[in-house]
This record gives sequence, C-alpha cells and structure tokens, in this order.
Amino acid sequence: MKVAIIGATGRLGKELVNVFGTNSIPVTHEMLDITNPRSVESVLMKLNPTIVINAAVYHPTDLCELHPDRAFLVNTVALKYLADVCNRLDATLVFISTDYVFDGEKGTPYLEDDRPNPINIYGLSKFMGERIICQYAGRYYIIRTSAIFGGEGKHKTLVDKVVAQLRDKGYIRMARDVVISPTYVNDVANMIKDIVSNMEPGLFHCANSGYVSCYEFTKHLMEVLDIKGEVVPVELTELNLIARRPKFSALGSNKIRMPDWRDAIHRWVNSTYSEEPCREISHPL
Ligand SMILES: NC(=O)c1ccc[n+]([C@@H]2O[C@H](COP(=O)([O-])OP(=O)(O)OC[C@H]3O[C@@H](n4cnc5c(N)ncnc54)[C@H](OP(=O)(O)O)[C@@H]3O)[C@@H](O)[C@H]2O)c1
Repeated sequence: MKVAIIGATGRLGKELVNVFGTNSIPVTHEMLDITNPRSVESVLMKLNPTIVINAAVYHPTDLCELHPDRAFLVNTVALKYLADVCNRLDATLVFISTDYVFDGEKGTPYLEDDRPNPINIYGLSKFMGERIICQYAGRYYIIRTSAIFGGEGKHKTLVDKVVAQLRDKGYIRMARDVVISPTYVNDVANMIKDIVSNMEPGLFHCANSGYVSCYEFTKHLMEVLDIKGEVVPVELTELNLIARRPKFSALGSNKIRMPDWRDAIHRWVNSTYSEEPCREISHPL
C-alpha cells in the first residue's frame, strides 16, 4: 500500500502521515497544487500511489463566503483533476469532507444516509466536491469529520482559540445554541486508516461520539485543563459572523463506532500535557 497524503502539512494531513507511517508519501502544497491539473497529473503519475488521500482544503468558513471562487476551485473543481488521475493510476481516492454539508435542522446526530443541505459556501463547495467524486472517481471513500482538535496546524482549532483567549483576556463568549461533535485528530486519522484498509468504499461519518454545545464544551475544557476565567454564553447571532453556521452539526454513524468526545479529550490532555497538564496552560491567567 502506497498512500499519497495531499495536504500533508495540514492538521489532519500531518496526523495521517504519522498513522500511515512507512506506507505514507507526504505531498505538500509546495510539491503539488491541486488546482493545477498539470501539477496533479505530473506529481501523482510520478509517485504512483495505490491510495490518494485529499486532506487539502480551503476552509476558513467566513473567508469562503468572501472568496467563493477560491473555495470552489480548491474544494470542488480540483476533485475532478484528482479523480481523473486516480482513475488512470487505478488508485483509490479518499476525500475528507465536513459536517458543514448539513443545515443543522435535524436536532440529532446526522447519519450517512441523511440528506445534505449546506447553508454556507464552505459547506456547499465541499458537498459539490463530494458529488464530483461520486460522479467521476472509480473507487473512492468520502469521509466526513467535524470540529477537529489536537495535533499541529497553521489554523487554530476551537480548543486552541478557547485556551488562547482565556489565557490572554480571561474571558470568552461562546454560543450555547451551536452543538458539535468535538473530534480528536488522532482518532480520525486512525479510523481513516482502518476504513480504507478494511472496509468497502463508500461514505463514512468519522467523528467522536456524543455531542455538546460550544458553551458547555468550553466549560468542560476549563475544568479538565484547570483554566480560570469566564465563559459567557451567547446566541450564535450575537457573534455577528459572516457565514451562516449549522446550529446542530453533530455526526453519528451507522457504519463505524468512535470513542466518546470526553474520552478523546482526556487522552489528548494526557498525551499533550503529560507532565502537570493544567499548570502549563493556566499559569498565564
Ligand atoms: N479542522 C476541522 O475542524 C475540520 C472539520 C471538518 C472537516 N474537516 C476537513 O478535514 C480536512 C483537513 O482539514 P485540516 O483542518 O487538516 O486543514 P488545514 O490544517 O487547513 O490543512 C489544509 C492543508 O491543505 C493544503 N492546501 C491548501 N490549498 C492547497 C492546494 N491548492 N493544493 C495543495 N494543498 C493545499 C494546506 O497547505 P498550505 O497551508 O501550505 O497552504 C494545508 O497543508 C479538510 O478536508 C476539511 O474540510 C476539518
């Protein structure tokens, strides 16, 4: 198994490179721009992988609203280039997608057979990417995940933002009417490996089980990390964000089982702050 991991310097990409170990071929943005069909063809044909995982994305949700051309180019159009080359190589294409393909109206965790109805450009561009894969890729997996924490990346996760703002300002406003499935990047990467190694191709929801509001999640983090400060509950509309967000985007699955998000937080804290976890973070408050 030779697994080309596109977006290898991203948060999930890095974790996938670790998890696939010697089978992985890290493909950075510098090596390959997925929006350039010639680059996709020449790099992938040379690497000759058996599996291509696309963890590259344009995903700051508000910026996607302001730059829809970029969002559709990276998250939708590029998937056609990848599908075409994978077909020529007889390689399996794995597309990482998002909980934001849903509108958030269901009120219970979304399962694989629920109907997407994106309400912002990011979600729409990813859903269109999924449709491109279904239409053009020969053998593929579509793996939706959500609210990733842990690992390393250029963009801050929700957890990073909470910890940084509480440390810097001593308070944070969090939506009590937005419900998510917080998901540990290490659990997603391991599950992706398991799925592509052992399961038939198809669509999978890959998030830690259970769900929580952003407000309650922040309180939980403060407790486990012993962070002092104030979390102010607000409504989503009070945050004046550019893009609309689904209010309930928790993912469930009728195909796989993932550990509970609280258990995932516990393992993340232990692995990240194994020596006196709390003091390191709470000290500056
Ligand atoms: N993070 C979350 O909470 C979350 C939630 C749901 C779903 N997901 C999905 O999970 C996947 C991975 O997300 P992530 O958080 O790991 O993203 P990330 O940390 O932002 O990493 C994205 C990677 O894509 C690369 N990239 C961007 N444009 C590219 C292009 N045109 N060609 C090649 N590479 C390009 C970036 O490289 P440079 O930085 O060098 O540009 C970066 O390495 C995405 O499909 C996302 O939709 C993430």
